Amino acid sequence: METNFLEIIRTRRSCRSYKPDQITDEQLNAVLEAGTYAPTSRGLQSPFIVAVQNDALKARLAKMNAEVMGVTTNPYYDAPTYVLVFVPEDAPNGVQDASLVLENMMLAAHTQGLGSCWIHREREMFATEEGKELMREWGLPEGLVGIGALSLGYPDGEPSPAKPRKEGYARVIK
Ligand SMILES: Cc1cc2nc3c(=O)[nH]c(=O)nc-3n(C[C@H](O)[C@H](O)[C@H](O)COP(=O)(O)O)c2cc1C
Repeated sequence: METNFLEIIRTRRSCRSYKPDQITDEQLNAVLEAGTYAPTSRGLQSPFIVAVQNDALKARLAKMNAEVMGVTTNPYYDAPTYVLVFVPEDAPNGVQDASLVLENMMLAAHTQGLGSCWIHREREMFATEEGKELMREWGLPEGLVGIGALSLGYPDGEPSPAKPRKEGYARVIK
């Protein structure tokens, strides 16, 4: 488990291969809690987070995502847990709020020894009637849009190190 904060940031990598074992509730709760402590525009806590561990539901989500992507593989890489993030369509900075939630959760996952990967296309998935029906089933309010999701689980294999950072990525003006 990595505990040095800058090392956590440097060594987090997108994970695209997972062991089938489910993560513990403690690990999941730590990841979700980290998401809820992300900063949000005007402190509105606009995002809604939904963690899915039900196999039939995960298969349905994978199919919906694959249809948007135009593939037949599982875009969530058969991870044992998917975590979806939504915001109200009229939230003042919903994309930014949800993105910070997702990043907090990815970093927290890494501290828990878990792998994660941001998975896209939830906006299109949950704009469909099927997506809207699922949001109702989950007790979410009307008018939400999907911003992104995480695949989450124990990594199967070691990630390669991050690419070198590009020249001129950051500059300091004094
Ligand atoms: C907005 C966003 C969308 C992404 N969508 C996907 C995706 O759908 N599938 C995927 O495998 N990775 C996705 N990624 C992960 C990126 O490909 C990954 O972060 C990037 O290649 C850098 O690798 P690293 O996370 O290991 O540093 C996404 C990342 C972001 C920030």
